[in-house]
Amino acid sequence: MTIEWNLELATGNEEIDNQHKEMFKRFNHFQSAYSLGKAQNELQKIFTFLDEYVKFHFAMEEELQIRHGYPGYAVHKEEHDSFIHNFKKMEKQLDSSGVTSPLVIQANMALVSWLFGHIKGTDREFATFLTNSLPMKKA
Ligand SMILES: [Fe+2]
Repeated sequence: MTIEWNLELATGNEEIDNQHKEMFKRFNHFQSAYSLGKAQNELQKIFTFLDEYVKFHFAMEEELQIRHGYPGYAVHKEEHDSFIHNFKKMEKQLDSSGVTSPLVIQANMALVSWLFGHIKGTDREFATFLTNSLPMKKA
């Protein structure tokens, strides 16, 4: 199963859009390994990526939401915080027990639900808001 970025997800903020595209790329790479039963090798890599992603990408989205007075900010931030909480727990498990099959499965499930639930749902709502609130471009 792969998941592709598409224009419906565009926020119009190039950096955020590029970060989402990178997230999809990393996830698809992890998924391919997962379906071949080789995700063990990829878990550390995707965790290293996520560690940076949750800090910089979430902060950037939240800053943009505050700047534009986005009414869904609180709910959106709650989802970010809850993902961070879950991710930190998985990171601790990785540190204490190394790569285990249950952890790989758990990480995969967390990512699938994040991409389908948050990026394709909550982030898309924000993208729609942002696109509509930006001034119309003159032809
Ligand atoms: Fe988000």
